[in-house]
Amino acid sequence: MIVVSEPDDFRALLEQARSSGKSIGFHPTMGALHGGHRANIRQMAAECDVASVSIFVNPLQFGPGEDFRSYPRDLDGDLAQAQEAGADAVLVPRAAFGEEPLTTVRVKRLGHVLEGLSRPVHFEGVATIVTRLLSIAGPCFAYFGEKDYQQLVIVRRLVEDLSLPVVVVNCPTVREPDGLALSSRNSYLSKEERRAAPALYWALLAGKRAIEEEGEKDPVEVRSAMERAVSREPLLGLDYAVVADPGSLDEVELVEGEVRLLIAGRLGKTRLIDNLKAARSEA
Ligand code: PAJ
Repeated sequence: MIVVSEPDDFRALLEQARSSGKSIGFHPTMGALHGGHRANIRQMAAECDVASVSIFVNPLQFGPGEDFRSYPRDLDGDLAQAQEAGADAVLVPRAAFGEEPLTTVRVKRLGHVLEGLSRPVHFEGVATIVTRLLSIAGPCFAYFGEKDYQQLVIVRRLVEDLSLPVVVVNCPTVREPDGLALSSRNSYLSKEERRAAPALYWALLAGKRAIEEEGEKDPVEVRSAMERAVSREPLLGLDYAVVADPGSLDEVELVEGEVRLLIAGRLGKTRLIDNLKAARSEA
């Protein structure tokens, strides 16, 4: 596994592989790697000739008062995990890479709903760094997790809107045995909060059950089912629970075909998000 800190060296490395006919996979991360990242890297290594990864805690996507400074950092552990999962090349840019740029990528409506409501600068920061990293990686298959579903939808739109030579590949959400989606931020949870955290997933399952087993068509009822499940866990504060169109993320007026259930909640100072697909069979 080759580790580089200069973006131009990473670009040249991938360019050389591409010119000898190899397909390039690229998985951007903020480090603090866990089983979700490892599964994504393994998927990429199985599907592409070259599996490349970036590790960079991007200051632009953290708002004032958010956890940029305290975000978990463990470069040695990250490199060991990336290698174990089959990465061939890793870009670890220096901190100066994140210095406030003059040019940014602004995301319109989709960047200001759901996560964007409580994190107003977040998706502009994500879109700016992702555009930059994809420009360095060049033509590639770019792997993004469904765990951050709104991010995935925004990145798909960004690639289309800016005509980037990139194919976005979805990676399924990896969960703990009790259902909690793996996240670098799970390390912030106290023992009690960790015990309560799977309630977010149970709420999604309650919404999915209402749609798929009870045939519920009314999104207000589906939302109530999710809210009731959250209210059974006193430590968990609900931020939002919605029934959305999987492409536009608009809240649906009627559950028809496939929808995406998205949820966000707070456990103490930690904010967690999760989501799940649900589909009404029209039988
Ligand atoms: P990070 O949170 O490190 O996540 C990197 C990638 O791993 C994202 O595509 C994310 O959706 C995916 N991921 C996270 N948890 C996962 C899980 N439990 N199962 C499967 N995949 C999971 O997302 C970011 O970093 C940043 O916003 C980034 C895109 C790197 C831009 O800075």
